[in-house]
Amino acid sequence: MLGRRDGPLMRNNGQSLRGSRIVFAIAVGILLGCAFAFLFPHGFFGSDPPAQGRRLPRTSLQVGSSPCESPERINMLKSELVSVSEKNVELKKQVRELTEKLRLAEQGKDQAQKQFLVLGEQHKAGPFGTVKGLRTNPTVVPGNSVNPRLAKMLEKVAVRKELIVALANSNVKGMLELWFTSIKKVGIPNYLVVALDDEIENFCNSNVVPVYKRDPDEGIDSIARTGGNHAVSGLKFRILREFLQLGYSVLLSDVDIIYLQNPFDHLYRDSDVESMTDGHNNMTAYGYNDVFDEPAMGWARYAHTMRIWVYNSGFFYIRPTIPSIELLDRVADRLSRQPNAWDQAVFNEELFFPSHPGYDGLHASRRTMDFYLFMNSKVLFKTVRKDAKLSKLKPVIIHVNYHPDKFPRMKAIVDYYVNGNQDALKSFPDGSE
Ligand SMILES: *[C@@H]1O[C@H](CO)[C@@H](O)[C@H](O)[C@H]1NC(C)=O
Repeated sequence: MLGRRDGPLMRNNGQSLRGSRIVFAIAVGILLGCAFAFLFPHGFFGSDPPAQGRRLPRTSLQVGSSPCESPERINMLKSELVSVSEKNVELKKQVRELTEKLRLAEQGKDQAQKQFLVLGEQHKAGPFGTVKGLRTNPTVVPGNSVNPRLAKMLEKVAVRKELIVALANSNVKGMLELWFTSIKKVGIPNYLVVALDDEIENFCNSNVVPVYKRDPDEGIDSIARTGGNHAVSGLKFRILREFLQLGYSVLLSDVDIIYLQNPFDHLYRDSDVESMTDGHNNMTAYGYNDVFDEPAMGWARYAHTMRIWVYNSGFFYIRPTIPSIELLDRVADRLSRQPNAWDQAVFNEELFFPSHPGYDGLHASRRTMDFYLFMNSKVLFKTVRKDAKLSKLKPVIIHVNYHPDKFPRMKAIVDYYVNGNQDALKSFPDGSE
């Protein structure tokens, strides 16, 4: 059979076949040599080394086969070599184990520390249906030395260690007035304006609005005075950090918001971040399975995706926990390094993207606020104002985030919900024109 195939084209094949037979024979020779060295360490090797052995390249086993050596010497060298190579194998194994331990230690170090901070001790799993993961992380130990002046102010302003905080400069003075007027009207005592310039500080003081102006010597404050938009949006997260470090929960609020009830009566307080949503119905606000269709894939044409409308980074409640502070740091850090990033996008990406190769996700716990109670202006103008039942319900807050004509819409909201003017919202289009 082989002979018939051995045409001109097959000759090379035949040669390589022969070649590999030789290699195979050599390998068998080496293995036999090893076996004999172990089985007959005293004598056999010296008398008749395997014939193929001589043609082999020198390996450690052939070192002793020189005809000049006495059989005793050869045997001694032989057993030394065996024991040395055994030690070598053992050492290599130990190095491998140590390297692996080191790698695991490096990998787990950070995570283990964080988990220890959060969990403290190990628990047994309870029976079926009774186990619950940790979503309410413990609060940090307050460090008053971070900012003693702010600490003193918060002692006076906060109620049960929580308060509303808004940042404002003189560009938003008109909205700020509508904002704090609505807060006063509801009777919320625990709120604070972080003034980014003197005009706002004076404006607040003359309106008996709790105000905090940062020490001008502090480094990040120069950002507020001279920085562009992006620097200022990063500033918000840096300032918030101090409140959390001092042990306070913050309800961060933009100033294009009207308060109609006390939000602190409507919080769950079980998550690191509890935020209003940009969503406008159950699906978009709370998450859904969005099926992506790719007909070319035939049987597997449907790919399931997880979707949720972004959290609104202009109104969220954040508890003073390690994951919360990590979130603020990560957002501030990214905003300082990516000048064109939008703070709300960064906020959501840090909050939602899971860990993956080369990236450690945040893994903070999250809760989406009721979108009818903490209402965005799309929900109000597209749905609620046209719905007989929904338009009778009083939200907790309304955020005019979807419309550029913020000031007139804010006034109309007050007119509708506070003054009872049923027509106040009618003149506005659903979206901007
Ligand atoms: C939205 O969800 C709430 C409960 O979360 C439910 O009561 C309501 O019926 C849902 N609405 C629709 C339109 O599915």
